[in-house]
Amino acid sequence: MSFQVRPRVAVFASGKGSNFEAMMNSPEREFDVVMLVCDRPKAHVIGLAAGFGVETVVLDPDQFASKEEYEREILKKLKRANVQWIVLAGYMRIVGKVLLDAYPNRILNIHPSLLPAFPGKDAVKQALDYGVKVSGVTIHYVDEGIDTGPIIAQEPVTVFPKDTVETLQKRIQQVEHVLYTKVINEVTQQSS
Ligand code: GRF
Repeated sequence: MSFQVRPRVAVFASGKGSNFEAMMNSPEREFDVVMLVCDRPKAHVIGLAAGFGVETVVLDPDQFASKEEYEREILKKLKRANVQWIVLAGYMRIVGKVLLDAYPNRILNIHPSLLPAFPGKDAVKQALDYGVKVSGVTIHYVDEGIDTGPIIAQEPVTVFPKDTVETLQKRIQQVEHVLYTKVINEVTQQSS
């Protein structure tokens, strides 16, 4: 009899959590989400995690003297749960040195544009304001910059003339909800 150990992943999120939810519900998922890390005590994603029975760590960075101390506390929890991979899904903070050093090439992010175009906040609005005809989704490794790490996967989404931030964001998120699980499967299987 043979069995495979599934990669152990922590999701970091700050808000709605639709990517987290899609991942949890995906029949394609070949990794275990063993922890949700959230920096906003009122975030919607916390209730979702409770529903899925996923251990949740809620830490308010304002309660720590420095980013380093905040991340050290997170790291303790990650180590205790034997987390091997971190995936950011709407985590509205820049990952610092403590976590980058502890998880080299093991932190992924999903961004709602075709990087390097439109990094940072409000990427969907930035794309619409610029007038691009194609935007999309990027999944990349996280480095010390803002949405600058090596790109792993991209998928284009056509921008329609009548699009608003809401309509374009909705189509982009539909792509995200399928692509992220698929890419996490691939990356974590390759080098677990
Ligand atoms: C996603 O669109 C992702 O690309 C960006 O933040 C958003 C998070 O959405 N980084 P949700 O919280 O997963 O619904």
